Amino acid sequence: MKSNRVGIFGTAGMAREACDVAMALGLSPVLVSKDKSESGLLDFDTIPEANIHHYLDMPYVIGIGECALRAKIAARYGKIISFTNLIHPSATFGDRQIEKIGNQKGVIICAGVRFTHNIEVGNFCIFNLNATISHDVVIGDFVTISPQACLLGNVEVQEGTWIGAAAVVNQGCEISKRIIGRNTVIGSGAVVLDNCDSDATYVGVPARRIS
Ligand SMILES: CC(C)(COP(=O)(O)OP(=O)(O)OC[C@H]1O[C@@H](n2cnc3c(N)ncnc32)[C@H](O)[C@@H]1OP(=O)(O)O)[C@@H](O)C(=O)NCCC(=O)NCCS
Repeated sequence: MKSNRVGIFGTAGMAREACDVAMALGLSPVLVSKDKSESGLLDFDTIPEANIHHYLDMPYVIGIGECALRAKIAARYGKIISFTNLIHPSATFGDRQIEKIGNQKGVIICAGVRFTHNIEVGNFCIFNLNATISHDVVIGDFVTISPQACLLGNVEVQEGTWIGAAAVVNQGCEISKRIIGRNTVIGSGAVVLDNCDSDATYVGVPARRIS
C-alpha cells in the first residue's frame, strides 16, 4: 500500500503551516529536524536530517521561509529524494493555473491563497496564507510570499526574493513588468510602486530602499 506520509524539512513556524496543508490533504506529515535535539519536542513525527537516507519512500517539501536556506536544502537533496507540491484545498486558481503549478516541485500553497491566470511559478516557492497573485505574474525559484501579500498584474518577482506580510506590489504593464530583483526583501506592509533592485531591502509606503 502506498504511504500517505510527506516529509517536511524544518521545525519552525513555516514547517507547521506546511503540516496544516498536508493534513488538509489527508497526508501524515513527518518533520525533518536539523539535529536530534529537536526530535521529541514537536507534536508531529520527526526524523533527524542525518537519517534521511532511511526515508526515501516518501515525497518531501521544504517548510522553511528563508529562501536561501531552502535553496541549500534543495541542492543538497535534489538527487536523493523526490520533492512534491503541497496545495491547500481552499486555494483557488484561474484557468489552467493548477496544471501549470503541477509541473513544478517543492511548491507550498497555504489556505486561502488566490491565483488568477497566466502565472508562472518557479520551483520551491512558498505562498503563505491568503496571498493573492494576479494575472500575468512571473515568480522565480525559491520565492517566499508571506501572508496576505498581494502581487497585482504584470509583476515579476525574481529568484530568492521574500515578499513580507501584507505587502502590495503595484501592477506593471503588458510591455514592461514591475520587477522585484533577485534575493531582495520587501518588508511587511510595504507598497511597492517602482521596480526594486536585487540584493536589497525595501520598507514603507511607498516602499523605499533601506539596504
Ligand atoms: C523588512 C525587514 C526584513 C527589516 O528587518 P531588519 O533588517 O532587521 O530591519 P530593522 O528592524 O533594523 O529596521 C530598519 C529600519 O526599517 C524600518 N522598518 C523595518 N521593517 C519595516 C516595515 N515592515 N515597515 C516600515 N518600516 C520598517 C525600521 O523602523 C527601521 O527604521 P529606522 O532605521 O528609521 O529606525 C523586517 O522588518 C520585515 O518587515 N520583515 C517581514 C516580516 C514578515 O512579513 N514576516 C512574515 C512571516 S510568515
